[in-house]
Amino acid sequence: MWDFFQTVRHRHSVRRYQSDVAIEPEALHGLLEMALAAPSAGDLQAYHLVVVRDAETRRKLADLAGEDFLTESPVNIVVCADPEVSARQFGQRGRDLFALQDATIAATYIQLAAVAEGLGSAWAGGFHEETVRSTLELGSHLRPVAILALGYPAEIPEPTPRRKLNDLVTYI
Ligand SMILES: Cc1cc2nc3c(=O)[nH]c(=O)nc-3n(C[C@H](O)[C@H](O)[C@H](O)COP(=O)(O)O)c2cc1C
Repeated sequence: MWDFFQTVRHRHSVRRYQSDVAIEPEALHGLLEMALAAPSAGDLQAYHLVVVRDAETRRKLADLAGEDFLTESPVNIVVCADPEVSARQFGQRGRDLFALQDATIAATYIQLAAVAEGLGSAWAGGFHEETVRSTLELGSHLRPVAILALGYPAEIPEPTPRRKLNDLVTYI
């Protein structure tokens, strides 16, 4: 079992999948449980997770996001913010910011849990919310913010470069 630091270092966006190898329900359940373990503003968990296994729906999502890896991966998770859940406690800041933060942190936890489970993942973000919402028949209160591809990798991606700490960090 990798420690946390190894897990983080081994997470790379996987864009090629073994499409014929399913994710076991227990493994998928474990990833979803890890999303729930993520921090959230006021512990409200202002998000909703849509697990898409249906091939036709994954094809549609791949077209909407312009990313074929969503079809190749046997599972997509559409991570949605639920802004009004956060707005009830935090008003406009909850609606505009906290719900999006809750959702994206949950997505990140899923991606890290995937590594620990031996799975790969990739985030697709280039889609129109409205078309994804209507394709999945989501309630108008939900904002799809990320579509995650999940599956067993068919490639070992090269680590991508990172900006220097000095460019990104200020010590005071
Ligand atoms: C908000 C966000 C949107 C992203 N959208 C896409 C996308 O539409 N397509 C894609 O291939 N990767 C997408 N990615 C993945 C990034 O390209 C990737 O994380 C980055 O290049 C670093 O590579 P790594 O994940 O392998 O470390 C997205 C990541 C984030 C956080």
